[in-house]
Amino acid sequence: MATQRTRQPIERNIAMELVRVTEAAAMSAVRHMGMGDKELVDQAAVDAMRYSLGFVSMDGIVVIGEGEKDEAPMLFNGERIGNGEPPEVDIAVDPIDGTTLLSKGLPGSVAVVALSARGTMNVPGNVFYMDKIAVGPDSVGAIDINASVADNLANVAKAKGKKVENLTVVVLDRPRHKEIMDDIRAAGARIKLITDGDIIGGIQAALPGQGVDLLMGIGGSPEAVLTAAAIRCIGGEILCKAWPRDDDERKQALADGVDLDKIYDTRELVGGEDVFFSATGASTGDFLKGVTFVDGGAETQSLVMRSRSGTVRWIDSIHDFSRLDKIRFKD
Ligand code: FBP
Repeated sequence: MATQRTRQPIERNIAMELVRVTEAAAMSAVRHMGMGDKELVDQAAVDAMRYSLGFVSMDGIVVIGEGEKDEAPMLFNGERIGNGEPPEVDIAVDPIDGTTLLSKGLPGSVAVVALSARGTMNVPGNVFYMDKIAVGPDSVGAIDINASVADNLANVAKAKGKKVENLTVVVLDRPRHKEIMDDIRAAGARIKLITDGDIIGGIQAALPGQGVDLLMGIGGSPEAVLTAAAIRCIGGEILCKAWPRDDDERKQALADGVDLDKIYDTRELVGGEDVFFSATGASTGDFLKGVTFVDGGAETQSLVMRSRSGTVRWIDSIHDFSRLDKIRFKD
């Protein structure tokens, strides 16, 4: 459970430094695009992310990382990162959300990092998936993860002043979502199926003008925290519940003291007032342009946000590799 204590505001906009981290991860991972090896793209992104996170002035602990120390050589949960100077922060990483997409050269993979004050990120331990529902600022209070799909759609439509048939719901294309999809169709709303990448799905549901009104369905628990971080910056709401994959996971979760009925709201997943978020496109999708290599460099596009100011930035960058190498290897 997140500890609640009075903290000094984090005055610096660390998101402006995190963008260098996600840019580096995306540029490294994209070198292996289309090789059919998801571990390779992930490892390249992890290595680049870890290297560049080390330059950020902070005393960070990886709360959402690549798993436990023994299984993950880097960016494991509990790893300390940064140069050790204040502020004390929690870090959540998804070096590539959509490793399968990138390994196949398909659209929509992104590198993602979020950061918030120490003790403010929270996820149920050892439960791989969460059931999720997310909306934008105009529909806060209109969703209930225990209510039927039809009721949620009716309430969101009312909050938005729209008809249900004009709502679009983003859903991961998985057999486990057959019932949700049937219910959405029966209610008359439209579905945008995605093959992977529900962090961007959640962001598109929250950000105005994306043509998506809700995210619904079961996806990764780490991705739930990263989506919550983005929604803390944009405004909106995400509600989640732990979703054990099978009886063994259910038993283990109960033995670990996980409350399977507990509803995690946005602030429970990522609390405090200072949340920072950055995502950089790896392979071009319908939300972010991916990395384009040009002679001697690359171009990237990122989404960079900070909760305290509510500023949402799209940052287009041009990277000159020869000059970057001079900085990197100056010693
Ligand atoms: P990876 O990049 O780690 O493969 O995650 C992609 C993703 O689609 C997430 O965005 C989503 O939360 C999760 O996988 C869904 O899991 P699954 O593919 O097992 O249904």
